[in-house]
Amino acid sequence: MYVLGIESSCDETAISVVQDGRKILSNLVASQAYLHEEFGGVVPELACRRHVDVIIPLIKKGLQEANTQLEEIDLIAVAHGPGLVGALMIGLNTAKALSLVLEKPYLCINHVEAHLYASLMSHPESVEFPCLGVILSGGHTSLLLMKNIGEYDLLGETLDDAIGEAFDKVAKMMGLPYPGGPSIEALAREGDPKAFPLKRGIIKDKPYHFSFSGLKTAVLYSLKGQNAPNQKALQLTLTEKKNMAASFQRAAFDDIMQKIQCACRNYGLYTVVFGGGVTNSKTLRQLFATRLPDIRCLWPHHSLTLDNAAMIAGLAYQKWQSNPLGDRFDREAVSRIHF
Ligand code: KG4
Ligand code: ZN
Repeated sequence: MYVLGIESSCDETAISVVQDGRKILSNLVASQAYLHEEFGGVVPELACRRHVDVIIPLIKKGLQEANTQLEEIDLIAVAHGPGLVGALMIGLNTAKALSLVLEKPYLCINHVEAHLYASLMSHPESVEFPCLGVILSGGHTSLLLMKNIGEYDLLGETLDDAIGEAFDKVAKMMGLPYPGGPSIEALAREGDPKAFPLKRGIIKDKPYHFSFSGLKTAVLYSLKGQNAPNQKALQLTLTEKKNMAASFQRAAFDDIMQKIQCACRNYGLYTVVFGGGVTNSKTLRQLFATRLPDIRCLWPHHSLTLDNAAMIAGLAYQKWQSNPLGDRFDREAVSRIHF
C-alpha cells in the first residue's frame, strides 16, 4: 500500500511516500527556517505563502524520488492539526483536492501523535504496550500512557511554554539563531552546567506536569539581575553564553528525566517512546543512556525527529489497517488537539 504523506503544520513543507507503513520511498522537507530567522520565531503569514509556493513542486519531486506515479497512490495522509491553522489549511486543501481528482481516500492525522509513530517506525522490532509516550517538541511537552497506537491517556503536559519553545526563547535572549535548540546544545558542550543554579519547574500535586516559563525568566534574571530588559538580546561574553546554555539545558533535561522516571516507576513501565524535535538532541539521548540505563528508550531515527511527512504517512497506514475508511471533505484544520 502506497501512502502519500503531507505535512505543513508550521514552518516546514514536507512530502513523503511510504510503503506499508514503514518503508520510506521518499521523504522531502522544504524548511523555511531561514525566512523566519530574523524574526526569532515563525511568522504565520510568511509560512502560509511559502507552503503555497512549494507544495505542488515538492509533491512532484517526492513522487519522482519514490519512483511512483500519482495514480499508484492508495491513500493520502495529511496533518490537520495541531499547528498554525493557515499553514495546515494549505496541506489539508491539497490533500482534499488530490483525493477528489484521483478518487482515492484521504485521512487526517494528528501531527503530535505522528511524532510518536516516528519512533515506532524507526524500530522494526515490536514494542510491548503499555509504554510511556513522551512528546518533546516546539509546541508540546506531554507524557502519555500509551496503551496501543491510537490509545492514549494523558498523564501530564506543560502548563505554559513547551520545552522546544523554551529553548527557542532562551536562545533569542542570548542572541542565538532560530531554532534555538541546536545552537544551545552546541554551546553547552563547552559550558559548565553548574555555573548557574537554575530551578526546574515543579507543580504542586501534579508530578507529571511541566512549566518552563519560570526557568526561562530565571535565565534572564541570573544573567542580568531582576531589572533586566525582556525584549532585547543580552550582551554576553562567550563564556557566559556557554555556561548559561549548559546550565539551562541541564535544568530542562533534569526535569524531563525526573518526571519520566517517576511516571515509569508509578505505572510500572519499562519502555519510553519519544517523539518531537527536541529528541534531536544527542545530549538528551546520552543522558538517558548513562543516567537511566534501565529504561528502554525508543528514539526516532535522526531523519525523523523534526517535522516530516513520513511519520504522517506511516501513522495513516496503521490507522487504515484498523479502520479502512477515508475522511469526509468537511474536516477542518485545527490549532489544538487534546489527547
Ligand atoms: O517537533 P518540531 O520539529 O516542531 C514542532 O512540532 O514543534 O520541534 C522543533 C523544536 C524547536 O523548538 C527546536 O528548538 C527544538 O525542536 N530542537 C531542539 C534541538 N533540535 C531541535 N531542542 C533542543 N536540542 C536540540 N538539539
Ligand atoms: Zn512537530
